[in-house]
Amino acid sequence: MVRDLTQRELLAELEPVAETCVHRHLAMAKDWHPHDYIPWGRGRDFAMLGGVDWEPGQSRLSEVAKAAMITNLLTEDNLPSYHREISENFSRDGAWGTWVGRWTAEEMRHSTVIRDYLVVTRGVDPVALEQARMVHMTNGFSSGIAPAEVDSGAGFLHSVAYVSFQELATRVTHRNTGKVCDDPIADRMLQRIAADENLHMVFYRTMCGAALDLVPDQAIEAIDTIVRNFRMPGAGMPDFRRNGVLMAKHGVYDLRQHLEEVVAPVLRQWNVFDRVDFGPRGEQVRERLAAFVDDLERVKIPRFEEQRDRALARERARS
Ligand SMILES: [Fe+2]
Ligand SMILES: [Fe+2]
Repeated sequence: MVRDLTQRELLAELEPVAETCVHRHLAMAKDWHPHDYIPWGRGRDFAMLGGVDWEPGQSRLSEVAKAAMITNLLTEDNLPSYHREISENFSRDGAWGTWVGRWTAEEMRHSTVIRDYLVVTRGVDPVALEQARMVHMTNGFSSGIAPAEVDSGAGFLHSVAYVSFQELATRVTHRNTGKVCDDPIADRMLQRIAADENLHMVFYRTMCGAALDLVPDQAIEAIDTIVRNFRMPGAGMPDFRRNGVLMAKHGVYDLRQHLEEVVAPVLRQWNVFDRVDFGPRGEQVRERLAAFVDDLERVKIPRFEEQRDRALARERARS
């Protein structure tokens, strides 16, 4: 039986692919500046400087748009935790180190630009936002990968599989948040962020695909674990459930989008269901994954949509 590769072996084997991907990313990434996207002319001082503090009537955003913006921003705010996860599970050397630094620097723009937009346009309560950020960042984010798994190689594989889906999920969420904001300036800003998330997804998806070619059985186990337990990194932030429900109900991010726009295209790209290089262990995991996807499609999504439609009809009847 072939033994599993360790973390160190995986990183060494995949480093040439990482190097190619970093070069490709740098050639494709567009430099942009958060300040260009902010309508500074709409801004004014707050009370401490002699102006007026925030009150709800100043916001032009709907409740759904507010919930989505806050969730997206707090998610982006937690970058130090993601940086720690990625740098612990990848490496600081060579192409891996270059990627971790570059990716972190690009991600930082996202929270900068969204926060500037929300504060300048008075879209949400800046005091509540700051309190939520303090709680959320103090809690931090952990993938829950145990140190033993890091050594076995599962740390890298779980991380790279998770971000392949998660970057695409944030792309979808930012893009759809742009649509519900009903402001062309917010829409342009969020499309810009979504384009970054797409390039991040391409890097991680390529790396995870290369891992699948290198160690099919080991990689499919990580992919299966991630897909079956997928949670957005915002889980645990204040009002996450309430805001998540609002976003799902109004098409910012729901279960069907999760399957059709995130999970299925990535699995298809890796050719998961048609590849012929799995051993008996990989075959078994693939079957379990196929059953999970099938259950989402046939049972969970229709059940969610029925409940959502009933809830929306009740709301319409009430208003
Ligand atoms: Fe981001
Ligand atoms: Fe990203």
